[in-house]
Amino acid sequence: MIVYENVCKSYGAIGAVKDFSLKIGRGEFFGLLGPNGAGKTTLLRMTTTHIAPDSGIVSIDGERIDRNLTRAKRRMGVVPQYSNLEGELSALQNLEYHGRLYGLSPRQRRRRSAELLEFAALVERKNDKAKTFSGGMQRKLMIVKALMHEPEILLLDETTVGLDAAWRRRIWDLLRELQKQGLTILLTTHYLEEAQTLCSRVGMMDSGLLKRTGSPAEIISEAGNFVLEYFENGETAQRFFDSRAEAVAAASCLSGEFKAREANLEDAFIKLTKKRLDAR
Ligand SMILES: Nc1ncnc2c1ncn2[C@@H]1O[C@H](COP(=O)(O)OP(=O)(O)O)[C@@H](O)[C@H]1O
Ligand SMILES: [Mg+2]
Repeated sequence: MIVYENVCKSYGAIGAVKDFSLKIGRGEFFGLLGPNGAGKTTLLRMTTTHIAPDSGIVSIDGERIDRNLTRAKRRMGVVPQYSNLEGELSALQNLEYHGRLYGLSPRQRRRRSAELLEFAALVERKNDKAKTFSGGMQRKLMIVKALMHEPEILLLDETTVGLDAAWRRRIWDLLRELQKQGLTILLTTHYLEEAQTLCSRVGMMDSGLLKRTGSPAEIISEAGNFVLEYFENGETAQRFFDSRAEAVAAASCLSGEFKAREANLEDAFIKLTKKRLDAR
């Protein structure tokens, strides 16, 4: 279990993460949502011990991560937003290299890299340089690289940004399979569909604050399961209702065009923060 207790981190006057408290259970697939600048990467980097909080505690299974950084690092696999591959090395060499860094024996490295290349369907390209891989294949390689040392927790930062829909789905399938195998997964995303599809629970962050946590269904139903969208004062307005009938009834007072539809996570996020998830 990962536990955050009152974690804070500022850069000068900017409070990147403010008084963040959360528990993520073993085997959970947790999604941290929020627009750019919300503090997601900062939180992830404090979890992976790359940066230290100004105050507050991060612990895994009751052990503060700052008490034994090496042990904490071994328990986690990290997939950063930007490539951490060695472009001039082959896929296999990238995995081998990571294995060496984590002290795996040659035999362990061979076994584990073969297993992971198979899992990611990269066997045929294993001897090609990483820089020749497509964006999607590089992402897959980054994920299996993070798994070389058999971590219990996988942390991914905006892992599907820039990938087309087909690749995004392939990555989702891979992550789902990993969760089935028992891995605890924490990912950040600003794609609502990604969070809604994959995550058992999400946390919505905005301006350094964790605004709300819950399952996607809980968060949506709290906002209102149906949304009425209409045009008012030159912009699109939204109102939330528990049922479609109520949304349609309310629409009868409107003069212009309207749309009544099922609410999604993005609607709930907008209601909560008045911001869009993909806001720049
Ligand atoms: N190394 C840094 N130096 C200064 N400001 C930073 C640094 N890293 C992040 N910030 C600021 O902290 C806030 C949160 O950033 P970040 O954690 O990257 O958000 P997200 O990943 O949700 O986009 C932003 O305002 C960002 O500009
Ligand atoms: Mg980020």
